[in-house]
Amino acid sequence: MSPLRSLPGRPAHPFFEEEYEHQLEMVRPSTAPVDVPPIPEGYLLRQLRAGDDAEYDDLFHLAFADEGRFPENLERALEGGFFVMEHLASGELVASCVAWRGSTMPRHPDAGQMGWLVTDPSHTRKGLGTIVAVSATNRLAAEGYQRPCLGTEDFRIAAASIYLKLGWRPYVYREDMIPRWRSIFARLGREVDLSLACAE
Ligand SMILES: CC(C)(COP(=O)(O)OP(=O)(O)OC[C@H]1O[C@@H](n2cnc3c(N)ncnc32)[C@H](O)[C@@H]1OP(=O)(O)O)[C@@H](O)C(=O)NCCC(=O)NCCS
Repeated sequence: MSPLRSLPGRPAHPFFEEEYEHQLEMVRPSTAPVDVPPIPEGYLLRQLRAGDDAEYDDLFHLAFADEGRFPENLERALEGGFFVMEHLASGELVASCVAWRGSTMPRHPDAGQMGWLVTDPSHTRKGLGTIVAVSATNRLAAEGYQRPCLGTEDFRIAAASIYLKLGWRPYVYREDMIPRWRSIFARLGREVDLSLACAE
């Protein structure tokens, strides 16, 4: 049974067991901002605010099985770095991405970090994931982080597509990650770019 929590009328993303012990990492070796694409009609991009906790929890668990992450997420978010997309007709939060102070990743101490990119599956492929990811990427750049980091998994192909387009690059810290990244590039039909390969 999937550990994700579907809601009435809001099915969760498909669930995959993590196949590999070592998580994929990406960094963005640039502070260049990215243009925020136009927000589709019927949606509002805003910050998480008091009273959103339950709505955010619903959205989060459509994609992630982790429990108890909210306090850390909130605590680490940069001011103006907790982006949510509200669906105006329903009042539901349907996409989010967070720009964090510092980093939880030992290979990237104090780097600035992006996390918890999610779009409600009922609202995917409208550009909402890109908009919240661009917003968090730009917030990290505005904070002056020279090479922020993020962690991801091999099956998160749509997320990889977004990250690569926004200038995030694979940070290959183990040889066995090269074929994993090659497979992701192939699935996306993109030219392989492992310029930060074997960075350690
Ligand atoms: C990743 C995610 C946020 C994308 O949300 P979204 O709102 O559909 O994103 P967008 O509409 O901006 O689409 C982004 C790109 O991904 C591509 N994409 C979407 N689904 C895809 C799929 N299954 N395979 C390949 N590419 C896909 C789209 O084609 C789009 O690229 P385009 O602009 O060239 O068309 C969403 O799929 C999600 O919540 N996934 C589960 C959570 C997750 O994996 N988070 C990342 C944690 S590291």
